[in-house]
Parts: sequence; C-alpha cells; structure tokens
Amino acid sequence: MKALATRSTEDKEFPLSLADFRYLSSVVYDQTGIVLKDHKINMVYSRLARRLRELGLTSFNDYCRLLESERGTEETGFLINAITTNLTKFFRENHHFEHLADVALKEAAAAASRTGLRRLRIWSAGCSSGEEPYSIAMTLLSRFPRLREWNAKILATDLDTAMVARGRAGRYADRDLENVPASLRKRYFSG
Ligand SMILES: C[S@@+](CC[C@H](N)C(=O)[O-])C[C@H]1O[C@@H](n2cnc3c(N)ncnc32)[C@H](O)[C@@H]1O
Repeated sequence: MKALATRSTEDKEFPLSLADFRYLSSVVYDQTGIVLKDHKINMVYSRLARRLRELGLTSFNDYCRLLESERGTEETGFLINAITTNLTKFFRENHHFEHLADVALKEAAAAASRTGLRRLRIWSAGCSSGEEPYSIAMTLLSRFPRLREWNAKILATDLDTAMVARGRAGRYADRDLENVPASLRKRYFSG
C-alpha cells in the first residue's frame, strides 16, 4: 500500500507521504465523519496543492505541521472546504422533489387536518451552495396549497463554510438555472 501511495505522488510538485495523507484523513474524519481511504490520496493532493502554493509551503509535511500549530484551527476550515464535494443543481434528482410534493406534503396536510397543527420543518442537511433548499422552497410555494397558513421553515446547513456563504448570497448564473422550469424562473428569480 505504501509503495502504491508514494509512487502516486512522488513525481509531483509537493511530496505527500502515506503517513501525512493518513494524518490529513484523520483530521477530516474527526471534524466531519468523512472517511478518506488510501486510494483518495491523489484526490486529496489535487484539492490541496493550490492551498500549499498560496501558503508558500513546499511539502504536505509542512502543511500537517501547520494544522498542528496554533493556526491549525483556522486552517482546518480551509482543509474541510477543500475536501468536500459540492456537486449540486436546482432540482437535482428531480424525483425527490416530486416525492416531496406528491407524497410528503400530502401526508403533512392530512396530519394537519387531524391534529390542527400546521407546522412544517424541512432540513437540507448538506445544502452545498443553496440550490437544494431553494428548490425545496419553490416546490412548497408552487405545489403546496395554503402554504401561507402554515408555520413552515427550511433549515439549510453545510460543513463547507464557503458553500453556506454562496447559498446565503443566493446569486446564480443563468446557466445554473437550466433545470428550473420557466414559470418558476420568472416568478422566483430577478435580475
Ligand atoms: C454532493 S453535495 C450535495 C448537495 C445537495 N444536497 C444536492 O443534492 O444537490 C454534498 C454536500 O454535503 C456537504 N456535507 C458532507 N458531509 C456533511 C456533514 N456531515 N454535515 C453537513 N454537510 C455535509 C458537503 O460539504 C457538500 O456540500
């Protein structure tokens, strides 16, 4: 395993030993629960090489020492943001939004008519740059009758702080909206 791992990075700009890779994996796991097995060594290299350049470091060993230093807490945030995979789209895997509209919201409405409690809580647990929670919001607004009579909230969280900032800003390029039906685009986007 060691030969494989060292061979895969030895001809690159920054040396990355298997021991240092495993240290980085342990920091990521402790902070996020994300498991980085040994075959992810090249992915970790490519996600972090630019950060090492920015910091003026010459090896991943120096980067590990930085993480252990008093600046480590701040740097761990950059590490986590670099490692997370943020692939997202409006209405990505659209069947989830169909299920929300056709099944989950109907069940919520049926329960409310039994209990009289019109309270809805939806959590986009890894929301990336916000496309998922905004797609949920558009689904509620367009497909849940009498939403305004409900106490409804969507919680959006992500361990990548840069993604949370993008989601909070809510600014998207035209090309990001290709999955958004024209009627929703017209109604819920401006600019
Ligand atoms: C592949 S993206 C999917 C985004 C969105 N849910 C979607 O389906 O379009 C996964 C997101 O989950 C976030 N993530 C991974 N583990 C997480 C955790 N333990 N807590 C919060 N967010 C997490 C990542 O940072 C990333 O932005």
